[in-house]
Amino acid sequence: MRPAIRPAVAADLESVVSLDALCFKSSSGAWSAVSWADEFSRSDRVVLVADEGAVVGYVVLLVPPFAEDPVELLRIAVTPAERRTGIASQLMSAALSVCAGRDILLEVAAGNFAAVKLYQGYGFGEISRRAGYYAGGEDAVIMRRQEKDND
Ligand SMILES: CC(C)(COP(=O)(O)OP(=O)(O)OC[C@H]1O[C@@H](n2cnc3c(N)ncnc32)[C@H](O)[C@@H]1OP(=O)(O)O)[C@@H](O)C(=O)NCCC(=O)NCCS
Repeated sequence: MRPAIRPAVAADLESVVSLDALCFKSSSGAWSAVSWADEFSRSDRVVLVADEGAVVGYVVLLVPPFAEDPVELLRIAVTPAERRTGIASQLMSAALSVCAGRDILLEVAAGNFAAVKLYQGYGFGEISRRAGYYAGGEDAVIMRRQEKDND
């Protein structure tokens, strides 16, 4: 069954916090429940969830009020048991619809090959690096998707 992609509502908060803890426990760090509550409440955030009865994925966007400013893709994750089934692709497609007409920036750990591949597949290219940015010394890669290249 393909999940439905929809905006997150307050009732999703607990599920998203749990899923985030599962997805980021061993890498760059899960966000706290307080941070997630803030993400859910901010007017410049768009949180979409993949819902198949349970929440199995999410994407978080920072959408600045001025259309000329790029959107930032802050986070995307899919429950480990359902990876490689196209759920992140569904979330990315929905996110791109939200961002229609705007450039998108993101930052990703250089060694996160799954995420880098996913982003490349949606037209993101590396624009710069922050050497040793993450704990453990891993580089951060800044990627951009330019709307004019993908419209
Ligand atoms: C990155 C992540 C969101 C991908 O989710 P997913 O639902 O498995 O991705 P999809 O099934 O939609 O895959 C889409 C494309 O991404 C790429 N991809 C995804 N996982 C991959 C992997 N393990 N290895 C290589 N490429 C991968 C492929 O190009 C894939 O297309 P294909 O299946 O036709 O080859 C998932 O691995 C995840 O939640 N990782 C932990 C959280 C994270 O690191 N998020 C990114 C930083 S915020």
